[in-house]
Amino acid sequence: MLVHRIPSAAPENIPSSIDGQEHIAPDEFKAVMRRFAANVNVITSANGKILNGMTATAVCSVTTEPPSVLVIVNRSNRSHPIIKLSNAFAVNVLSAEQKHLAQHFASRPADPFASVDHFIGKTGCPIIKGADAFLECVVMQETEVGSHTIFVGRVVASQTFNEQPLLYHAGEYRRLGEAKAMAS
Ligand SMILES: Cc1cc2nc3c(=O)[nH]c(=O)nc-3n(C[C@H](O)[C@H](O)[C@H](O)COP(=O)(O)O)c2cc1C
Repeated sequence: MLVHRIPSAAPENIPSSIDGQEHIAPDEFKAVMRRFAANVNVITSANGKILNGMTATAVCSVTTEPPSVLVIVNRSNRSHPIIKLSNAFAVNVLSAEQKHLAQHFASRPADPFASVDHFIGKTGCPIIKGADAFLECVVMQETEVGSHTIFVGRVVASQTFNEQPLLYHAGEYRRLGEAKAMAS
């Protein structure tokens, strides 16, 4: 079970000038988070024939035994109820040639997979062709943090294709080895 720790007062080793509610301004926080370079992924999900995908950088390895990853999904995203209901998701690690798909799956398209090459994986989630790698997961734990849910998934299928990854840094899509943003 995930442990929730929401202290109402600061722990004793922290100066009393920092109370239990203190935090930096959200804009300051965003300025630091923009300094993280991250892989760009599409988290796919399915409810019967309804297929969805959302662009995501909040993806992280958790344990090797069993193989597990976490994804962090805004509760207002369409993907959220689909993952909750189906208990499954797939992480598609986009390749450097798939910037258009990152933009597509961040824009809530009406029929997300109508023009996207894919096949259906063993969990029922769509798997995007041309990606660098994918993981298919069954949800084993979830916890809510503010506006988001952290879903931890046990990995039940995977494949790698050895493409170059698509990265996101300082608000721009990039590829490995390039200091400049990719032209749009
Ligand atoms: C580079 C990038 C990274 C993103 N990462 C996340 C993320 O980790 N979690 C999340 O909930 N939304 C993230 N988003 C926003 C979602 O992709 C966006 O809200 C999407 O439209 C949700 O799709 P849905 O409503 O069909 O589920 C990201 C967007 C971009 C452009």
